[in-house]
Amino acid sequence: MKITFPETFTWGVATAAAQIEGAAFEDGRGPSIWDVFSRLPGKIEGGGIPDVCCDSYHNVGRDVAMLKELGVKAYRMSFSWSRILPDGTGPVNEAGVAYYRKLLLAVKEAGIEINATIYHWDLPYALQIKGGFGNREIIDWYLNYASLLFDRFGDLVDYWVTFNEPIATYVGHAKGFFAPGLSDEKYARQCIHHLLVCHGRAVQLFRERKLKSRIGVVVDVWKHYPARPDNEEDIASALENNEIQGYGMFLHPLFLGGYSSVLTAYMEEHDMTPKMEPDDLETICQKLDFYGLNFYNGLYDDVDEMRRMEAQKASGGNFQDRPVRHLEAAYDVLHMLKEQYQIDIPIYITENGVAQSDGPDRAAILGDDDRIAYVSETLYHVRRAMDDGIDVRGYYLWSLMDNFEWSAGFCARYGLYYTDYENLQMIPKKSVSWYRDVIRNSALEMEP
Ligand code: FCB
Repeated sequence: MKITFPETFTWGVATAAAQIEGAAFEDGRGPSIWDVFSRLPGKIEGGGIPDVCCDSYHNVGRDVAMLKELGVKAYRMSFSWSRILPDGTGPVNEAGVAYYRKLLLAVKEAGIEINATIYHWDLPYALQIKGGFGNREIIDWYLNYASLLFDRFGDLVDYWVTFNEPIATYVGHAKGFFAPGLSDEKYARQCIHHLLVCHGRAVQLFRERKLKSRIGVVVDVWKHYPARPDNEEDIASALENNEIQGYGMFLHPLFLGGYSSVLTAYMEEHDMTPKMEPDDLETICQKLDFYGLNFYNGLYDDVDEMRRMEAQKASGGNFQDRPVRHLEAAYDVLHMLKEQYQIDIPIYITENGVAQSDGPDRAAILGDDDRIAYVSETLYHVRRAMDDGIDVRGYYLWSLMDNFEWSAGFCARYGLYYTDYENLQMIPKKSVSWYRDVIRNSALEMEP
C-alpha cells in the first residue's frame, strides 16, 4: 500500500539542546537544572550525565551533513538558555550566541528551514535557586531571554516554539523523576500557571516585534482510554490522566481559555488553585500560527493492571513501562484537537519516534526495522486524519541521533543515527535510507 503526502509537506527531524550539545561547562555556559539533577544518585538510568552527549557543540559540520544526507526540509532544535545567559538573566554569553549563529547559518545554507524551541526543559540552575517557575519573576526572566533570541536569531528562524511539552515542568515539580526533582503538586500547578503566562507574553512580544516567522507551542498528547469501556474506575482513571494530570491542563487554557471545569474543581478540592493575576487567563490564550503535536502512543487504563505495575516500580518516565502500541490514537488525537479544542491552525507533528534499548548487539540496533514499522504506522494514521480535512503540514521524526534521553540517560536510543559514545562517531541505522526515500518521494510503502 502506498501512502502519499502533499509535495509541500514539511519532513524533518528533531533534537533538543540539553540532549545533544554536551560542552556543558565550556565557553562560559552556566549549568542547567538537568546538569544538577542528573548528578543526584539514582535519578538517571545507568547514571548518565549530559556533560558530553553527542558533542554537537563541537560538531556543527557533522550534524548538518547528517541533515543533508537525509534530505530533510526542516530541522527542529532548541536553544540552551544557560549557554546564552549563564545566570538566566544578566550578561549575554557571546560564545553561546556564536555557536547558534554558526549552526543556524549552516542549516539555512543547506536550504533547510529552522524550527527553534525557546525552552525545552533546561532551566538555568541560577534561576532554579531563585524559585524557578514557582517564582512569578520567571515571566520577566523568560521574556528577557525570548526577546534576546528574537533579536539575535530572528533573521534565521522560520518557526518559533515557546515551550516544548510543558508537562515536563509539571512532572519535575510534582512527581520528582524529572528535573528539578521536586514532589509537590500544589507548587507544580503554580509553576505551570506561570509557564503558561510566559508563553502568552512571549507570543505578544513576538507580535509586537513584527517578525516574519511564525510562532506556536508544542504540547504532547498521550491520550488515555478506559481499557474496559464499562468499568467506572477505568473511565475515571482515563479522565484524570487526560484532564487533570495530562494534556488537558495545557490545551484547555491555551486554546479554549481558562482551566477546564474538571481541573478547576479538582484544584479547588485539593487546595491547589494557582495564584493568578486578573488578566492571566486571557494572556495565556493567544492566537497562534501553528500547533506542534508530539505524539508517541495512546494508552489504555486498566486500573487493576496499573496497581500491579505501580507496586513493581519505584519511578518511571516517558511511559517506557507501557510498551504496547496504540498508534491508531494519532488519528483520534488529531480529531480531538480540532473538535474538542477547536484548533483550526496548521498542525505539525513536532515529534514522533521510538526507542531501542541500548545493548551489546550493535548490529541489531543498526537494523531498526521496528522504527520503520512504528513511523510507517503513525504516518498511516496521520494521513487518515488529513484525508478527513485535518490540516497537518509536517512531521518531525524524533530524533536525528541517539542522545541523552532524560531520566533514561543513554540507555534509550531514539536516533536515526547510532551514536557511538566512545568516539562520537555517528553510524546510520537502516532507517536513514528509508526515511530519506520517504522524504524524497513524500510517500511511503507499507504492508497493508
Ligand atoms: C519527548 C521529549 C523529547 C524526547 C522524546 C523521546 O517527550 O520532548 O525531548 O525525550 O520525548
